[in-house]
Amino acid sequence: MRLLFAGFGTVGQGLAELLVEKGAFLSKRYGIDFTTTGIADPRLGSLYNPSGLDLEKALVAVRDNQSLAGYPGDGYKKGTLEMIGEAEADVLIEATYTDIKTGEPATSHIRNAMERGMHVTTTNKGPLALFYQDLAGRAATSNVRFLFEGTVMSGTPVLNLLRETLAGSDIREIKGILNGTTNYILTRMEEGMSYGDALNKAQELGYAEAVPDADVLGWDALAKVTILARVVFGATGNPFDYFCEGITKITAGAISKAKDRGKRYKLIGKVWKEGSGVKASVQPEEVDLTHPLAGVMGATNALTITTDTLGDVTVVGPGAGRTETGYSLLIDLLKIGGAL
Ligand code: HSE
Repeated sequence: MRLLFAGFGTVGQGLAELLVEKGAFLSKRYGIDFTTTGIADPRLGSLYNPSGLDLEKALVAVRDNQSLAGYPGDGYKKGTLEMIGEAEADVLIEATYTDIKTGEPATSHIRNAMERGMHVTTTNKGPLALFYQDLAGRAATSNVRFLFEGTVMSGTPVLNLLRETLAGSDIREIKGILNGTTNYILTRMEEGMSYGDALNKAQELGYAEAVPDADVLGWDALAKVTILARVVFGATGNPFDYFCEGITKITAGAISKAKDRGKRYKLIGKVWKEGSGVKASVQPEEVDLTHPLAGVMGATNALTITTDTLGDVTVVGPGAGRTETGYSLLIDLLKIGGAL
């Protein structure tokens, strides 16, 4: 399977490390051999070789020089769209930064790759939150797979669970903690760390978005509830059609006062059916300390899915991170390769 990376930041590198580490094991277990033919990143530069690049060397170049320029041989001088337009590849891995207002440049990367007959896997929330139905339609027309497990709760299986295991259920509501950065900040603030230090640490650990305002203002969780609304309920609303408030008004004092009252602040994302419509919201809530969501700490996320068949199903797991999100792409690639 020939891979093209659009975006080689934290998430792209997380997948690359997994492919280096697990390549032999995956080949043996599933008979799938992964070859990377191209990497294009707006900050790090680009590489292209139809016979295959050495991912380990690409990772070393980025680690040592913050650039792909140190990779042996001549770099590829064209931009991402041009590479997608001419590269020999079977799958586009779209892991550029999320823009939930425009969905670009990721949406153009995805559309162009599909037009060329490439399958697509992405962790990018913008295209899904704004154009899911359009992109799914284009994938069907082009007869390619379009997978995006990592857009909600990184590698923790949520979308696969909703779309496959729960396919026979009527889902009434999906509610939980959908942003790792803010849950991490609230956790550390409760332990006495300042808001600024906690945010810096979340960035260092690879949880935060390229522009972390998107996390703390609630936009990242908003993108995820919008994706759930579109993918699970067929809604057509855009992120800013729904109510959204982040964590920026929550002070250390408010956190400790809430604790004295037996409560803990959590940023809660929610999407539910109401009459014939679909509603969604993101806002901080004071959750009772005895409630299961109150115990979800750090960058861990949790989602409770209310169904007609099973009652409540709750999934708890990593919601952000380099390996955790890279892993979601790996699962999509195994599906595309027919292993699952
Ligand atoms: N910035 C996001 C978070 C990354 O903190 O949850 C995963 O979507």
